[in-house]
Amino acid sequence: MPSEISYKADFSEIRYAQCWEDADILLNALDIQPGDICLSIASAGDNTLAMLSQSPARVIAVDINPAQIACLELRVAAYRELSHPELLVLIGSLPGDGAYRNSLYHRCRPQLSTVTRQFWDNRSTAIAQGIGTAGKFERYLRLFRSMLPLIHNQDIITEAITEKTEAERHIFYQQHWNNNRWQLFFKIFFSQFILGRLGRHPSFFEYAQKNVAEHLLQRTAYAMTTINPCDNPYLQWIATGQHLTALPYALRPENFEIIRANLDRLEWHCTAIEDLLKNLDCDFINKYNLSNIFEYMSNQNYETLLRKLIRVGKSSARLAYWNLLVKRSRPEDMKNLLYSLTLEATRLYQQDKAFFYSSFILEEII
Ligand SMILES: C[S@@+](CC[C@H](N)C(=O)[O-])C[C@H]1O[C@@H](n2cnc3c(N)ncnc32)[C@H](O)[C@@H]1O
Repeated sequence: MPSEISYKADFSEIRYAQCWEDADILLNALDIQPGDICLSIASAGDNTLAMLSQSPARVIAVDINPAQIACLELRVAAYRELSHPELLVLIGSLPGDGAYRNSLYHRCRPQLSTVTRQFWDNRSTAIAQGIGTAGKFERYLRLFRSMLPLIHNQDIITEAITEKTEAERHIFYQQHWNNNRWQLFFKIFFSQFILGRLGRHPSFFEYAQKNVAEHLLQRTAYAMTTINPCDNPYLQWIATGQHLTALPYALRPENFEIIRANLDRLEWHCTAIEDLLKNLDCDFINKYNLSNIFEYMSNQNYETLLRKLIRVGKSSARLAYWNLLVKRSRPEDMKNLLYSLTLEATRLYQQDKAFFYSSFILEEII
């Protein structure tokens, strides 16, 4: 059976040029051990690379979209060929000019497969801007950022990401940020209609159960107050288009060498996870990073896929995934197969720096 999403959305372009899922909570949840075999949705590659830092025996990355595989492949080449500061410039975390970024790309280029080389050769503008800016979702965030000065002046925007205590952040949010203009702008910009057309794909909302803008507004307030913006690379990129004082896990200097040293343990497949699983043995995978792929399918297809993941998973294997707008967690009639680590998942969700999700799910195969 082909993946449900494959015949609904076009997958020829980059949708996510960065992984908008918090690798810190993912790694904490999966508790990857040396020798583990991991299966990870590739997306832009960051979290798959983060998993390598725990020295598993193998990480198998999969994505249905060849453009996402091209993002992962270029990152792998960059870890091999570049220094850590150069990697940050190529991604766009650090400023750099277009010619310099293209010269960095040309150093990575010989490492790429023919298909991926052709893909990036045709995207020198995206490379010049930083490969982390090149997705549909990041362009949507850039549009948001460009309109933000209509609501708040630059001083207020800078103040929002300047170090403060939690109590000060709450006061700042109420007194300086959360005015009527902000609420109105946010609700229009992140309405399902606009987000579906400019940021994600309308079909990604087919199973949505929440009011998108209301949910995102509430979670943004949480990220600007309860969670510290100074430690939050995701919020910093949304507000400034760069990583100022915080980096996602895979880009932190202390993780660079270990990821580079373990790159030979990584493989990638451009196919639907449903198809990949058919070719894997039973009792094989220890840790699953499943992004929020279950939201893109009906409940029935979710349950079918869950059963396949259990078949291929080892006893005690862990599955980590997010819900944005659709509630997905193991159904009651599978409680003899999957144990929900609800307390641990809830604790991690409270620290989730990629704040827009509505829940984080962690389950263990019995
Ligand atoms: C599910 S998306 C989510 C990204 C981000 N969490 C968000 O919601 O904005 C992450 C990746 O999953 C891939 N994907 C979705 N369904 C898939 C499937 N059935 N098999 C393999 N990859 C899939 C997409 O191509 C994409 O690169």
